[in-house]
Amino acid sequence: MPGTVVVGLQWGDEGKGKVVDVLAENADFVVRFAGGANAGHTLVVEGRRLVFHLLPSGLLRAKTTCLLGAGMVLCPETLVEEMERAQELGIDLAGRLVISARAHVVTEYHKVIDGLREQNEGAIGTTLRGIGPAYEDRASRRGLQIGALGSQKTVEFALRGMYERALREGASRSELVEPDELATRYRDYAERLQPYLGDVSSLVHRGLVEGRQVLFEGAQGTLLDLGFGSYPYVTSSQTLSAAACTGVGVGPGAVSSVVGVLKVYTTRVGLGPFPTEASGAEVERLRRRGAEFGATTGRPRRCGWLDLPALRYAVRVNGVTELFLTKLDVLSGLEQIPVSVGYHVEGRLVQEVPCAPVDLDQVEPMYESLPGWADFPDDPRSFRDLPEAAVEYVRRIERETGVPVRFVSVGPDRRQVVAVSPQ
Ligand code: GDP
Ligand code: IMO
Ligand code: MG
Repeated sequence: MPGTVVVGLQWGDEGKGKVVDVLAENADFVVRFAGGANAGHTLVVEGRRLVFHLLPSGLLRAKTTCLLGAGMVLCPETLVEEMERAQELGIDLAGRLVISARAHVVTEYHKVIDGLREQNEGAIGTTLRGIGPAYEDRASRRGLQIGALGSQKTVEFALRGMYERALREGASRSELVEPDELATRYRDYAERLQPYLGDVSSLVHRGLVEGRQVLFEGAQGTLLDLGFGSYPYVTSSQTLSAAACTGVGVGPGAVSSVVGVLKVYTTRVGLGPFPTEASGAEVERLRRRGAEFGATTGRPRRCGWLDLPALRYAVRVNGVTELFLTKLDVLSGLEQIPVSVGYHVEGRLVQEVPCAPVDLDQVEPMYESLPGWADFPDDPRSFRDLPEAAVEYVRRIERETGVPVRFVSVGPDRRQVVAVSPQ
């Protein structure tokens, strides 16, 4: 059954948008299953750069139907704006975009609560998109499903509750839009979104039964997962490959392969532990060469080296069957490349992210220096065109994980990808 999950193996921003765009050439469906507009997925096609926050990265492939699953949280305003922007670019959404009526709504109140919490002790550096408070309302059964936007009574009741909770969290009345006014705005959004609402679970199921190619597009990354990430410095949803099933509404048998996307160094936005974080000029270099600024918030990303214990863990918890490496070009020009091959934890050497109560900020990476390479070809056409040391870097990742690398991305553009032949 041809269902493929694309999942980030680090702290997000691994290049999932580009990878999905590349793989979507042969896909019938691309479906997002978790997160919301905290995601920023970048596509570069013929010099044009596009960032999707809510819409799936398959949208530039004309034959592909794009779906938003029930596991997502959607701000109606952001969604409508993004749909309008896509239409302005000549992307026809009619019949190509389906939004699960079960996805939840992110409201102004969620964003205000997110912002207030980020000003207090316990801030984690969120994207301020209201993600945590929206998932909280979903879990506590006080949320609003997007399919209920047309029901005035349900909307008013839900918004009044959210408004009261925002006040209780310390928001002032003057900064909050009145629930009645917001409900009126939502009537308009409900009308505009109505034609796109549908049963995503059933569509994907039927597609798989008919033998169609389905790509499940992950958001965020493994180490931001609510259950298995660097808690509490995580997002509020499940980001692992298994969440593709619960976030869309299909059984585990729907997934036949899991493509893990790995940036060949590491970045993180927001607070929290980062064992292989670099410092000083090394960070500046990676950030400049890799253009490491958030696609959603514009924040400079923290930068550091490849972390093999974190990678082995990510491969295991996602059941990764193949790797798609990104940004190999960015490492060019380094004589030596430090890579963490293990962690020292309380006098022991461990091979993977340890389990609580040992925290990631208590581990000490053990580094090995791998040979770097000076120049990188401008437009490599095949894996053989890459410098020998770059090829060896890729092969080392395969040996360390036991998972084959299928593709390496060597620049931001859709065309800048080389296939890797099996060892
Ligand atoms: P995502 O959230 O995982 O989709 O990743 P982002 O779009 O937030 O960040 C990845 C960034 O790296 C974007 O600016 C991409 O255009 C860029 N990018 C992707 N692959 C490559 C690559 O192989 N080389 C370089 N130099 N940039 C890349
Ligand atoms: P993509 O899909 C990188 C991070 C935030 C913060 C934490 C919680 O583009 O890879 P949230 O707003 O979700 O409550 O923030 O998670 N974060 C991301 N970091 N890429 C993302 O998405 C992220 N989505 C959330 O920076 O540390
Ligand atoms: Mg991103």
